[in-house]
Amino acid sequence: SRISLIGAPVDSGQRRRGCLMGPIAYRVAGIEPLLAELGHDVTDLGDVALGELPQADCVNPTVDQLPETLGWTHALRQRVAEALESGTIPVVLGGDHSLALGTVTGSAEHAARAGRPLFLLWLDAHSDFHTPLTTESGNLHGTPVAYIAGREGFDAFPPFPLPVPGKNICMFGIRSVDSAEHAALRTTEITVNDMRVLDERGIVAPLREFLDQVRSADAMLHVSLDVDFLDPSIAPAVGTTVPGGATFREAHLVCELLHESGLMTSLDLVELNPFLDERGRTARLMVDLAASLFGKKVFDRPTRSFL
Ligand code: ARG
Ligand code: MN
Ligand code: MN
Ligand code: MN
Repeated sequence: SRISLIGAPVDSGQRRRGCLMGPIAYRVAGIEPLLAELGHDVTDLGDVALGELPQADCVNPTVDQLPETLGWTHALRQRVAEALESGTIPVVLGGDHSLALGTVTGSAEHAARAGRPLFLLWLDAHSDFHTPLTTESGNLHGTPVAYIAGREGFDAFPPFPLPVPGKNICMFGIRSVDSAEHAALRTTEITVNDMRVLDERGIVAPLREFLDQVRSADAMLHVSLDVDFLDPSIAPAVGTTVPGGATFREAHLVCELLHESGLMTSLDLVELNPFLDERGRTARLMVDLAASLFGKKVFDRPTRSFL
């Protein structure tokens, strides 16, 4: 494949500084040569710059750094849409999860132009289903899925091109949902595979069900991978650790199955905070997972046997 690496040093979606160092950490961990070694044509487009900040405020005074997040949303939307337009797979090196407000908008814009539906795979401990009106923390990294699904409360943001229907959204790894998010999620058709589902059914069957739907809809698929999807014992470099996350093997298996499906059209790597890392291990793990997503095999056996 042709891959566009897009650095997104976004730090405005939460209050603990450090995610802005994410893009550099991925580069130091060798993401470009690793993907190139797998036979891909990789271009690093460098970091997206934050343009002039728009004037904006929100009726909810706890909302933090709204102008910055709006600026990133605008810039990343354009960059991702362009990367897709040029026939490449955008791989966005974050940056906190608020960047998905922009990247998924770019994917949706492209999908609408191409006349194809868009599906979203959200790999995260959190559902990120707050609106700027319901968030208690004021951290906008907790809101992208609500925006993408077309929930109300995003008056300061440009309208989402074609809101993604709940049945096209699938979450894995979920184990921290606030009560306002919980109430709102229950009114949607979003598939929430929380850790209970993964414990009972494993990761393969539910993922396969989702990928079958993507395939039969001839859809585009945006994958958003939050570091805290992973268990903090293997991925400590994130501000919002939640115990009981995906294991090393589960995470690689998800990535390998995604690769085999050939369905992923865009990818975010988010919430890496290198300031919290231990000798680069989280950055390296995320880069290894990206490699699995692009065809590197970890297990020496035909992965088809899992299906
Ligand atoms: N639900 C919490 C909040 O709104 C946590 C969100 C964490 N999101 C993330 N992308 N890590 O603050
Ligand atoms: Mn901040
Ligand atoms: Mn998240
Ligand atoms: Mn999270």
